[in-house]
Amino acid sequence: MTQEIIADWQDRHRDLFGKHTIKLTHRLAETGLFSMHAIAALIDAYPEDMYNVTTMGRDHTRKQWREGAVAGNTGADVIEAVSKGRIWINLRKVMDVDPRYDRLLKDIFAEFESRVPGLKTYRQTLGILVSSPNAQVYYHADIPGQSLWQIAGRKRVYVYPNTEPFLRPADMESIVMGLQEEDIDYEPWFDDYAEVYDIGPGEMLHWGLNCPHRVVNADCVNVSVTTEHWTDAIRNSYAVNYGNGILRTRLGMMPRRHDLKGPSVYAKAGLALAWKKLRLNRKRAFVREIDFHVDPNAPEGFQDVKPYAK
Ligand SMILES: [Fe+2]
Repeated sequence: MTQEIIADWQDRHRDLFGKHTIKLTHRLAETGLFSMHAIAALIDAYPEDMYNVTTMGRDHTRKQWREGAVAGNTGADVIEAVSKGRIWINLRKVMDVDPRYDRLLKDIFAEFESRVPGLKTYRQTLGILVSSPNAQVYYHADIPGQSLWQIAGRKRVYVYPNTEPFLRPADMESIVMGLQEEDIDYEPWFDDYAEVYDIGPGEMLHWGLNCPHRVVNADCVNVSVTTEHWTDAIRNSYAVNYGNGILRTRLGMMPRRHDLKGPSVYAKAGLALAWKKLRLNRKRAFVREIDFHVDPNAPEGFQDVKPYAK
């Protein structure tokens, strides 16, 4: 883009970036890459192993996910099903599928790096999420740096502190080790301690590393973009969590140190790497099957099918 992507950057955001939640306005929609037409065309050619179609329960305190498939529907039909149903489609790693999104992703992070002294990002990813009216994402925490960019529709985002009791060290370690999905224990009273943001078209949020969050759509279809990134600090945090997770779950120790600099980081990174090489952690504790197909003519936008492995 010739214009800046972030429209209202202020000096304060330099100090807040990556540490606290910042809400900014952006110009992503002006690229034309996120119109319904563009997204329908993407879905039409999207590799099967790079998207997720999901439906979810209505109670935000009980996590109920189901995984589905596009099952031969056109992109336009999928968007119609999402617009009236209770599902979402998440196109993961769009930058690996279409070079226009890769260029945009590079522009986004070049801009952040030009504005935040010392920021050096890598392994950036860009996903597109089209989600139904009132759809929700349950309470969870992510491993890399996260930003949520709203293109169409409105959603409410709850961001919680990345400390106990909202995020326990053992939970983060399990997430990093791949022993559990990003879902973690949630209590309704956590909301009393959440930052609550309503975001609409042209607004984005970036929050502190690993901050748990949950999202509830307003009564309208939503188009959102998610970006992830890594930095040396994020990689070190990952290594320490991984190392601590091995100590706790495999060796029965109670790790205390969470230093993100110095020799213990290298020791834990080495432990994590050795563990991965031994492939002792290959068994994933969770496997989800496909049990519905998208159907624009069904009231919830999908039809149940006999479960099968993805
Ligand atoms: Fe997330």
